[in-house]
Amino acid sequence: MSRYNVIFMTLYDLMLNRRSVRVFLKKEIPENVIEKLLNAANNAPSGGNIQPISIITVKRKETRENLAKIIGPQPWIKNAPLSMIFCLDFHRVKRWAELSNTDFQGENSLGHFLIGYADIMCAAQNVVMTAESFQLGSVYVGSIQGTMDEIRENFSIPKYVLPLMLLSIGYPDSKPETMPKLRTDVITHHEKYRLLNDDAIMKAYDNKYGEFDDDVDAYLKKAYIEVLEANKQESGNWLKLVKKRIKSLNIQNHAQFLFNLRYPTEAMVKQNEPIFQQMKNAGFKF
Ligand SMILES: Cc1cc2nc3c(=O)[nH]c(=O)nc-3n(C[C@H](O)[C@H](O)[C@H](O)COP(=O)(O)O)c2cc1C
Repeated sequence: MSRYNVIFMTLYDLMLNRRSVRVFLKKEIPENVIEKLLNAANNAPSGGNIQPISIITVKRKETRENLAKIIGPQPWIKNAPLSMIFCLDFHRVKRWAELSNTDFQGENSLGHFLIGYADIMCAAQNVVMTAESFQLGSVYVGSIQGTMDEIRENFSIPKYVLPLMLLSIGYPDSKPETMPKLRTDVITHHEKYRLLNDDAIMKAYDNKYGEFDDDVDAYLKKAYIEVLEANKQESGNWLKLVKKRIKSLNIQNHAQFLFNLRYPTEAMVKQNEPIFQQMKNAGFKF
């Protein structure tokens, strides 16, 4: 086996075994490891190699607590020894363009925004996998997108910069054993898109989640691990609340659980307005 095969196998195994980690040991991450995580982010692919990215590292206890207070009740934010706020940074690019007697208007261009968001996620995922290689675990916290105004204010983030993703990182205390996934052939299309019929769609998700069983704890392990992981770190309120909601909303299947309870459709659509407003507040106008 060539040197390249060995590297590929190792990386492949890491990819297949990675799971979001939400319970961390109280153990500091060495500075030289953090430096490598940041170098991995900085060497990610980037559209046009423009690199419209800034990463704010958060380690101090009081800053972590403040971050957690702003974003909401996810205990891993304050308990992880390190968090990274991934920002789409058009401020630096704009200023560079101005100083170079040209004009960059990422804030007015959906194209620049889409590529820029892809850039920061490429960088973030480089951090995730590098962290795995150092036996660290991590979890994305997308909920940061609901509180971009407060994050910008609290972390002195200027106009044209959007804190779009948070990654909390640390040495795992517990790691979810399995997370159901679709079969790979469901997401794969050869040469052209293949429409699945209704039976195939139902089967794909039934295969993923299994029976919608009455054993709520077993079910939540597959479908809402966040609640169980939060419960390990804080009082049992989350679990109680979710169980109550499953009953009161008369949840009968997986899709209803996701789109009536976890991501209620009406609320998700309503979020457009505050998200657009926060983007406007940061100078984004498209
Ligand atoms: C864009 C994105 C946003 C996420 N936001 C959150 C979040 O706010 N809180 C959380 O606990 N997990 C969050 N996650 C983690 C997902 O819940 C997790 O990836 C998913 O349940 C699959 O589990 P796995 O990562 O262990 O494969 C997020 C993941 C992604 C990719």
